[in-house]
Amino acid sequence: MPTLFKKPREIRNYLRSVKCEGKTIGFVPTMGYLHDGHRKLIRDSKVDNHMTVVSIYVNPLQFGEGEDFQSYPRDLDRDISICEEEGVDVVFAPGDEDMYAEMPSLRVEIPGLTDILEGSFRPGHFNGVCIVLLKFFSILQPDRAYFGEKDYQQLKVVQRLVKDLSLPVEIVPVPTVRDHDGLALSSRNTYLTAEERESALSLYRSFLLAEKFFKEGQRNSELLRETIRNFILQHPHVNGIDYVEIRDENLMPVEEVKEGDRILLAVRIGKTRLIDNWRLGNEEL
Ligand code: PAJ
Repeated sequence: MPTLFKKPREIRNYLRSVKCEGKTIGFVPTMGYLHDGHRKLIRDSKVDNHMTVVSIYVNPLQFGEGEDFQSYPRDLDRDISICEEEGVDVVFAPGDEDMYAEMPSLRVEIPGLTDILEGSFRPGHFNGVCIVLLKFFSILQPDRAYFGEKDYQQLKVVQRLVKDLSLPVEIVPVPTVRDHDGLALSSRNTYLTAEERESALSLYRSFLLAEKFFKEGQRNSELLRETIRNFILQHPHVNGIDYVEIRDENLMPVEEVKEGDRILLAVRIGKTRLIDNWRLGNEEL
């Protein structure tokens, strides 16, 4: 069984003694309802570090008004069993009173990064993500922290945060884990009905279509984006596309697409908002 901590002071003291023994700490921050994507982060951390800490906390600060904070799936017992299966050493599952006894006044903004794409549709979202991660990093003092490429913009924001503040933690990116049919794993997939899930496959399939055109020599960003939009919009239950963008690896817009650029999109299927992204020039296909 992993050791469960709820109190920041207790886990801080515990990990301090672990570090004194010269052991390295790998940290996997999550909002729980763990799936195979989270498992991959945990496995990578276990390979690189003596000890792996998983946090399970649905962070209210990163949800906007009218978003799914209340309905976000939660099952701590199930998550702890998964952590046990994966050989996680420590689970940190604080309560809101432990994290936000007083609401932070600090605001984190990275102009050109936290205000684009997800940031423009979810104002304040990345501020909430950055604040909670800064708190976790300060409580746990991990050597490495693992982030999925599934949330590509989040990964970029965290990398920049760590660089700008010279935080003593190495950010390790982990490729997106997909279901057998290509749907990117997400705790939010549990909201989808069977029919909606079928339509949600259009996201992955639109990437394959764009990848095919790219391999055939198509380099026009606008045209590729139109192809993706039209393809997705043909599917039932698609309630709207927030954005389909092609950006370079630093999320700058591109007109002429090159290998390594990313398609990033957010689509509403039924009541569920899904995000996904794809690196163009994928060698595996
Ligand atoms: P959550 O959505 O639970 O995701 C936790 C971590 O798992 C993130 O780094 C995310 O990118 C990664 N992840 C999710 N689905 C994945 C998939 N299919 N393949 C690979 N990695 C995947 O992201 C958050 O929580 C929160 O914003 C958090 C960083 C914990 C801050 O509250």
